[in-house]
Amino acid sequence: MEAKKLQMYSQDELREALKETKDAYDAFQAKGLSLNMARGVPGTDQLDLTAAMLDAFPSDASPLSESCDVRNYGVLTGIAEAKKLFADILGADPDEMFIAGNSSLELMFTCLQISFVRGIAGCEPWCRQEKIKFLCPVPGYDRHFAVSGYFGAEMIPVPTDENGPDMEMVKQYVENDPAVKGIWCVPVFANPTGIVYSDETVRAFAALKPAAKDFRIFWDNAYCIHTLADLPKAPLTINQACAEAGNPDIFWQFMSTSKITFPGAGVAAMNTSKANMQEFVKAIGIMTIGYDKVNQLRHVRFFGNAENMREHMKKHRALLVPKFNTVLNKLNEEIAPLGIASWTNPKGGYFISFNGPKGTAKRIVQLCKEGGVTLTGAGATYPNGNDPDDSNIRIAPTFPSVEKLAQAMELFCICVKLAALEQLVK
Ligand SMILES: Cc1ncc(COP(=O)(O)O)c(C=O)c1O
Repeated sequence: MEAKKLQMYSQDELREALKETKDAYDAFQAKGLSLNMARGVPGTDQLDLTAAMLDAFPSDASPLSESCDVRNYGVLTGIAEAKKLFADILGADPDEMFIAGNSSLELMFTCLQISFVRGIAGCEPWCRQEKIKFLCPVPGYDRHFAVSGYFGAEMIPVPTDENGPDMEMVKQYVENDPAVKGIWCVPVFANPTGIVYSDETVRAFAALKPAAKDFRIFWDNAYCIHTLADLPKAPLTINQACAEAGNPDIFWQFMSTSKITFPGAGVAAMNTSKANMQEFVKAIGIMTIGYDKVNQLRHVRFFGNAENMREHMKKHRALLVPKFNTVLNKLNEEIAPLGIASWTNPKGGYFISFNGPKGTAKRIVQLCKEGGVTLTGAGATYPNGNDPDDSNIRIAPTFPSVEKLAQAMELFCICVKLAALEQLVK
């Protein structure tokens, strides 16, 4: 196919291109590829980076942390050394940290559950309120939307640009509608766009004056140290911005080591004000006597301090950059000249966000599936799976090898062209 924008093609040229692309697709299908790129999971080589962590706490090592014998019950909020480690990563106060089990998503779910069942900040529980609403910056993380959807929230998509969500719209909703109870935010290397919220955006969040006393920002800092390139400066933290704005209770902040050590066997952490923490601890103390402190101490012993954890992320970066480049190079070579799509070039995180021609995302995902590559479902990046433009696809380059990824992207580019040509040929 010539390097000329598709919209400049005559119908004859489009028909010819469609035939060529269909032949290429059929040839690809005959290869019998089978690859799953649906979720952003670390590659096996990334998991190997922390294999030695399993030796960081051998049976003859001392089980004593500053807080306790980690093998026993107690110390619900987490061991002191782990609080310090995660507080240093987030630039937070160790006294405002809660260290939990393996999943930050579980902590998020629990925060909503407490508001839903018992209520926070002296407010009626959400289950007794006629309607609750959640703001959902789009494109966003499907599991966030699944959590607020589970609690019956009406989900309102909020457009985002390279600085973060549309803060005028957020302010309008949050400050005028008491049914708006929360907003999902991935402030650093967002899932899936990879954007980093600007300091101005973070300050605008901290300055919100919610109509509902139990409104909270769900600040999911899942990718806070997952860089693929150097940033010119560290992003402003929500805790600092909220402290400066005199609005300390407005956020719950989350992170985990799922993509630092082991997903499923890492450590999750939450940071919030002392007042919020008190409400959380009151509820969580009913749910459990305590989390896996053996694993907390194992993480502390393996990393030693926050600086070492940041340093460790460079090893992940070295493995991931060639994968992201493989995706970006293919898109630049095959799709850019056609002028039919756009995509992000993230400086961190786990995803590339791709926008194809309107009305083609579902078709592209279907074609890829039938060609042997499973992608994240089209629409997954929008609440209720509803992308009104049917355009956005989340590309997750981390798991396959570079070689497999190159093959998968070859197929992806063929499918993008095919779906676009099917639309254009009259
Ligand atoms: C933005 C975001 N938050 C949370 C998670 C899951 O975190 P955890 O494994 O700590 O539950 C993911 C996983 O992909 C994610 O992308």
